[in-house]
Amino acid sequence: QGFLPFEHEPYSNFSDETVAQKQRAAFDEVRRRYVGQTFPLFIGGQEVEGEGTFTVTNPATGEALWHFQNVTPEQRDAAVAAAKSAFESWQHSDPFQRASIFKRAAQLLRARRAEFNAVMTLENGKNWAEADGEVAESVDHFEVFARETLRWAEGKPVYPMPDEHVTMHYEPLGVVVTISPWNFPSAIPLGMGLGALAAGNTVVWKPASETPLSSWLMIELLFEAGLPRNTIQFLTGSDEVLGDALVDHKDVRMIAFTGSREIGCRIYERAAKVQPGQKWLKRVMAEMGGKDATVVCADADLDAAALGIAQAAFGYSGQKCSACSRAIVEDSVYDEVLEKVLAHARKLRAGLPEDNADYGPVIHQGSAERIRSYLDAGKQSARLLLGGDFEAGSPVVPPTIFGEVESSDPLFQEEIFGPVLTFTRARDWQHAIELANDSDYGLTGSFYSLDPAKIAEARRRFHVGNLYVNRKCTGAMSGTHAFGGYGMSGTNAKVGGPDYLFWFLQTKTTAQKY
Ligand code: NAD
Ligand code: ALA
Repeated sequence: QGFLPFEHEPYSNFSDETVAQKQRAAFDEVRRRYVGQTFPLFIGGQEVEGEGTFTVTNPATGEALWHFQNVTPEQRDAAVAAAKSAFESWQHSDPFQRASIFKRAAQLLRARRAEFNAVMTLENGKNWAEADGEVAESVDHFEVFARETLRWAEGKPVYPMPDEHVTMHYEPLGVVVTISPWNFPSAIPLGMGLGALAAGNTVVWKPASETPLSSWLMIELLFEAGLPRNTIQFLTGSDEVLGDALVDHKDVRMIAFTGSREIGCRIYERAAKVQPGQKWLKRVMAEMGGKDATVVCADADLDAAALGIAQAAFGYSGQKCSACSRAIVEDSVYDEVLEKVLAHARKLRAGLPEDNADYGPVIHQGSAERIRSYLDAGKQSARLLLGGDFEAGSPVVPPTIFGEVESSDPLFQEEIFGPVLTFTRARDWQHAIELANDSDYGLTGSFYSLDPAKIAEARRRFHVGNLYVNRKCTGAMSGTHAFGGYGMSGTNAKVGGPDYLFWFLQTKTTAQKY
């Protein structure tokens, strides 16, 4: 296909002082270049001002960072019209041109890695390693989607007929709206946006209001790499203007959403209604929350299990759909695993993400207070073993561990989206899998055992879209760990996987007689 071989983008080695120094310098440079700046919308290839602006703040310090536009309803509709118009030509663009743009964007992003890391750290509070991992994933997305563009351009063979020439190939859909969360502000909107563009669709790109610059810079980078400027309409503003009305728009062909279960279900339901003048059934990709479990069997490598649990529970303060929020451990090793995880968690140090602290703020005060309500309720229903409290008004929630948590407890069932880990005792390893499956969600899960028979059973019975054996349940790599869950974790789109582009395409069969 012209672009092999593929290798995942390596992570930056911040223990090398030269690399660390470059990262520190990038914060100064980002502050100098972007703080106080106002960024435009992109509509129809033009930079456009909205009606007033809003300010993005640093979740760790409250520092005002940069400003983005409040789009008006008229501008929103103009953006959909611009995307519809751009589709007329972009749908016929050469797949090799599209793939080449993504390859070029990968090169450009590699060169600006530290800058993109710094922007993300300032916007959403990821420490260096977490931000760097996500920017590396974004480079991987460019490389993977370049290859997928060419692979899906080829069509598929069909069983032959003696007197007809039959082909089956794929065509794009039209206008795709992408709606994304704040916790992966580059890789998630980019995955959905590239999926749409690679397939030949045009995009209305709506980032989370907490983290728009991570998207804006990525789009600018794509334009610099040669993407026609009218193929992405970038809209920021309130959910009142950009939520239901965009989902309901008759000219929107598909909505690609990643975010909460509440909003995902709302979009799924609204998009089902055929609006006056709409000539298709809308397609909806809705990737939603998680309540991810790690099962530890008595025969497992308990040190590896404890480290995997602590990393997946407390990395980026547990604000990942893939985070481990439930440790389910066989009774005979429960106390030992718990002690080991507590030891890891006690070593974590709070501080500024910009200083590369182990953990920092959650995204905003509203989130901190929501987490607090779970902590307060948990103190009544389970045994608090670590953390559990923080200063009023502080956005920093400490790593918190509850023990002896029953499966009926909201701590066990509901997505808290913070650094809160529950420990539950299982009678045996099979009971542990049953407990892991006792959830509406089914995104990721880890299973720790060295016994091939138990592993085989976990592979069959653990009801998740991403099962990890003897490793942590966060950190899917684009191209390798196709990502997406079961149950109420969503539509199982599997971003970064070999079937992802199919979501953004329709299939045409052409039978020709001579
Ligand atoms: P959210 O659902 O609150 O917001 C997501 C996006 O939806 C935002 O851009 C928001 O502005 C927009 N939105 C709000 N109301 C809308 C409406 N009525 N119509 C259309 N769009 C609307 O989620 P969040 O707080 O930004 O992100 C956290 C959630 O995302 C967690 O539940 C997490 O598990 C989930 N998540 C899932 C995945 C995954 O791949 N499954 C990945 C990351 C995050
Ligand atoms: N894709 C992210 C992970 O695997 C959410 O952790």
